[in-house]
Amino acid sequence: MVAAAENMQTFGWDLFPGNRDSVFLGSGSIAGDELDISSFVVLPGFVDVHVHLREPGFSYKETISSGTLAAAHGGYSRVCAMPNLDPAPDSLQTLAPQLERIRTDAVIDVTPYGAITAHRGGRELADMEQLAPYVAGFSDDGSGVQDERVMERAMREAKAAGRILAAHCEDITLVRGGCVHDGDFARAHGLPGISSASEYAQIERDLALAKKTGAAYHVCHISTAESVALIRSAKRAGADVTCETAPHYLYFCDELLEDDGRFKMNPPIRSAGDRAALLEGIADGTIDMIATDHAPHAAEEKAGGLRRSLMGVPGLESAFAACVTALVEPGVIPLERLAALMSVNPSRRFSLPGRN
Ligand code: DOR
Repeated sequence: MVAAAENMQTFGWDLFPGNRDSVFLGSGSIAGDELDISSFVVLPGFVDVHVHLREPGFSYKETISSGTLAAAHGGYSRVCAMPNLDPAPDSLQTLAPQLERIRTDAVIDVTPYGAITAHRGGRELADMEQLAPYVAGFSDDGSGVQDERVMERAMREAKAAGRILAAHCEDITLVRGGCVHDGDFARAHGLPGISSASEYAQIERDLALAKKTGAAYHVCHISTAESVALIRSAKRAGADVTCETAPHYLYFCDELLEDDGRFKMNPPIRSAGDRAALLEGIADGTIDMIATDHAPHAAEEKAGGLRRSLMGVPGLESAFAACVTALVEPGVIPLERLAALMSVNPSRRFSLPGRN
């Protein structure tokens, strides 16, 4: 992420949050009262459907105020807040404190997610019907829904409520205490690995359920080549499925890891082959949007290297620069496509308010 931020400076580009609908990018100069904007590009405000604002419950990591200030600085005009909070928003009663804090403290628009299951516990469904008018969709992000029958019921409920089900796909029986991708880097450094199957096996299960139930299904933070291939073929078969990946999976691969908590997140940074497949998925439209999975922790929680740090990295301020470096500069996609991946596509898919 640091490299990406530095890169933004070498471009000579900077972000100037505009009004709530747009962001200006450029390397203008200010002379007296005059701002030279001849080299500026105006893009629609970015929309991030996957951020962790940590409030209520974990405000020592981030608050709605600090998180939305970071988002505004990164060019975002709307973010969707994930529900791994305390309390988890699984009913109107538990959503209310979050909505109130958004109303008083957010500097950009924030749409929360509702939890899929009560307390994000994976067993009983949340009160999806009541939550639906207030949420972007439903997710238990931070963990996968392990029980297939619960997931099937959740898809039916989400469909009846007219909302998307956004799944964090992770089969915990395949994670086995891993801290990095199960590949060459893990083996070379004697670190426990997280297999690609822990992600794609659950995607495969859910794609079959989405077909069976007809639910609108969205896969969060995909990181593996197999995930791209599965989603590509489900789309070809006509499933109502979309997916996101995050800038760190496009910018890094495990060869570049350092034993530093800044490189630890879930899912982990995968192999060079996985990154290449993600770039292909971006180029051919299999991947619909880029979301940051902005997930800050306290400094001491990230100080334990790859083994002991908590999983999660911030991303709102560096996402655009990282994506220009990973996608636009090498010619994977033009800037217009990046703007679509970061604003129009997420906004449309989640039916978010604004100019879609
Ligand atoms: O790395 C991650 N951090 N992945 C997740 O799914 C959750 C997130 C968090 O909340 O810290």
